[in-house]
Amino acid sequence: MSKEKAILTLDGKRIEFPVVRGTEGDVAIDISKLYEEHHITTFDPSLANTAVCKSTITYIDGDKGILRYRGIPIEQFVTNSPNFVEVAYLLLSGHLPTREEGITFRNRLTENELLNETMRYQFRSVPTSAPPMAQLSASLSNLACFHRDLFVLDTDDEFMDVSAQLISKIRTVAAFIYRRSQGLPYIYPNPNLRYCANFLHMMFSLPYAHHEVSPEVEDALNLILILHADHEQNCSAATVRTVGSSRANVFASCAAGISALWGPLHGGANVEVMEMLDGIHRGGLTPEDCIQMAKDKNNAFRLFGFGHRIYKNYDPRAKILREACDRVFATMKNQNDPLLNIARKLEELALADSYFIDRKLYPNVDFYSGLLLRAMGIPTNMFTVMFAIGRLPGWIAQWKEQHDTIGGRIIRPRQVYVGNTETNYIPVEQRP
Ligand code: ACO
Repeated sequence: MSKEKAILTLDGKRIEFPVVRGTEGDVAIDISKLYEEHHITTFDPSLANTAVCKSTITYIDGDKGILRYRGIPIEQFVTNSPNFVEVAYLLLSGHLPTREEGITFRNRLTENELLNETMRYQFRSVPTSAPPMAQLSASLSNLACFHRDLFVLDTDDEFMDVSAQLISKIRTVAAFIYRRSQGLPYIYPNPNLRYCANFLHMMFSLPYAHHEVSPEVEDALNLILILHADHEQNCSAATVRTVGSSRANVFASCAAGISALWGPLHGGANVEVMEMLDGIHRGGLTPEDCIQMAKDKNNAFRLFGFGHRIYKNYDPRAKILREACDRVFATMKNQNDPLLNIARKLEELALADSYFIDRKLYPNVDFYSGLLLRAMGIPTNMFTVMFAIGRLPGWIAQWKEQHDTIGGRIIRPRQVYVGNTETNYIPVEQRP
């Protein structure tokens, strides 16, 4: 550890802290012993400026709009044929797979693509209109019932095994949830198809007609999943780490991550974006109305798909997706999605408006992802599920890093209590 010290003076006391520096220049003051030694805590609502771990998985520079997985810039994964399975392996293991490792991992995904048949009956009493994210979270929890042998992971092999179970099965579960919502027969996975094509097959094939997936659509789905695969200590990853820090198994921890992702300020924003664009298209609102409403402090409305806690520049994922929309739409029957034009108009208005400029609010990953998913035929209520499929390798990698941290303690933040001071209990007959 570095010998550098940061100094704080409070109530006449001089307190020294170790300084932690990251490989990309992050500087942090280590306050972990502050309470134990001085009975002082730090106040950081929403953990906006608290590093809760050291991590080697994902690097973001929000001012410059940089995102790297294990050091590799995100842009390098999206040229030629984007490969989500390879990115998943990289996040999980820390290195790109050799040819052999890649084959072994792909085979593992194939071997694990089926669900235990009894899993299919778990939602018998749940309405078919139930929110897909509720069903997805419950399904991941339920998977734990079938894999008790993978609660404690002693070896790297067991870790890759549980990872393959989860990453493979989540797409089977997601497709089953969709088919059930439509009253359609379940389509079993096809071991001869690649990860994304297999998912689209389970979503859209019929028992008598295989759904052909064009290379452009397969690439676009790989791209979307890659761009969602990890994003360091966001709300859902922090949830997975927090749950995992109690030594909860990886199934339970990822199920909690899904619940965190569901919220409209996090992964649920991709649904809100589409509803906003659709609302404008149906004529209820104009893009100018949306901008005005988003700026009005008396209105809870937000311009969904805009703004980010970390990015104070264009989200690099949104930039890639914006360009992908052009490519993919050019190859599709439905080349002119009017919602794409509305999105472009909203972006143009926001980026020229001082409210958004001053607050450094740019499009985030959710702004364009829904348009691509819609072009593939994925319904809006499945968008956040698609985000979860992409994010799963990141959550598992974050869980593992937390799990492997030497001396890692249960995550347990503090508070500054501002409630009543000691107050006596009043029997009911004496209460006013
Ligand atoms: N529309 C209008 N105003 C916004 C927006 C927005 N989308 N985002 C932020 N602001 C404003 C806030 O009102 C605040 O203004 P003020 O300083 O005058 O009070 C200022 O910008 C800072 O915003 P915060 O809410 O403090 O930023 P925070 O970092 O807490 O929130 C968040 C980030 C949740 C993403 C926010 O920008 C937001 O709500 N965006 C819309 C939802 C969204 O797209 N979420 C997806 C994020 S990406 C992801 O999770 C995958």
